[in-house]
Amino acid sequence: MSKKRLSVVVTRRLPEAVETRLSELFDVRLREDDTPMTRAELIEAVKGADVLVPTLTDEIDGALIGQAGDRLKLIANYGAGVDHIDVSTARQRGVLVSNTPGVLTDDTADMTMALILAVTRRMPAGMSVIQQDTWDGWAPTALMGRRVSGCRLGILGMGRIGQAVAHRARAFGMQIHYHNRRRLHDQIEESFEATYWESLDQMVARMDVISVNCPHTPTTFHLMNARRLKLMKPDAVIVNTSRGEVIDENALTRMLRAGEIAGAGLDVYEHGTEINPRLRDLENVVLLPHMGSATLEGRIEMGEKVIINIKTFDDGHRPPDQVVPSML
Ligand code: DGY
Repeated sequence: MSKKRLSVVVTRRLPEAVETRLSELFDVRLREDDTPMTRAELIEAVKGADVLVPTLTDEIDGALIGQAGDRLKLIANYGAGVDHIDVSTARQRGVLVSNTPGVLTDDTADMTMALILAVTRRMPAGMSVIQQDTWDGWAPTALMGRRVSGCRLGILGMGRIGQAVAHRARAFGMQIHYHNRRRLHDQIEESFEATYWESLDQMVARMDVISVNCPHTPTTFHLMNARRLKLMKPDAVIVNTSRGEVIDENALTRMLRAGEIAGAGLDVYEHGTEINPRLRDLENVVLLPHMGSATLEGRIEMGEKVIINIKTFDDGHRPPDQVVPSML
């Protein structure tokens, strides 16, 4: 007798190839509109499914997990960050959580470099001259930015993505500095000729560029708060391709407007799509709509990871990318 297929609910539209493969393997309910599910729809999903495939636009909090039926056994997140999922409550209720690490690393690191270059080389100012049709031609003193080669780059969070940023930044001649919960092994540190700073304050005060690459957890919330932002050199810039909550966005906005920080490149915001309006009209910022990992290749690989996690679970094993509270 053939085994009953797992019932899987997917909360957002995924690339066609991923949806097709999911449908071949499981009894899957796909999303028709590409809008986040309402709370009521999420409740209905966790009540009836064996596996939920949410993504970062879904709030999978303790109360929601509390409403799950006995069937729900796995939350196979489509994405690396799990700060929208109450992993502890899921564990207490015997629901496994998995994510999709690794496959977003290079794309996110590429976008981090793009933001570093866009801000230091003043691309928004240059684009605006063209868009406003106010370009009078080349001039020796026009639109001068800062050379990244030789700059000190302080990476906040030296996990997979932080290291991929370091790798790229080295090729641009930047000097690598980092702050991390744990110091890297000597060999890795040496490969980047990286300097470890146990004190984040001390690192922040000495960097030309700061890149936020740590996840959002209760410990990293507002790690770059007003006090720390004030430690930055006035000619330094900050980029964030991780999670908006790590930077106090209001404080950053005030300091950018006051010229106390030279520039910022942001792909993520403290309150999701509700971006501080006073950030938008600044010439020294580059703002992107959380597209750091948005490549077709990456999105398909994320889907493949989700499928492997569900399939492995279905075969009676731990999903390879299981997330447990102690990892956070
Ligand atoms: C993730 O998967 O958490 C990323 O932020 C998506 O870009």
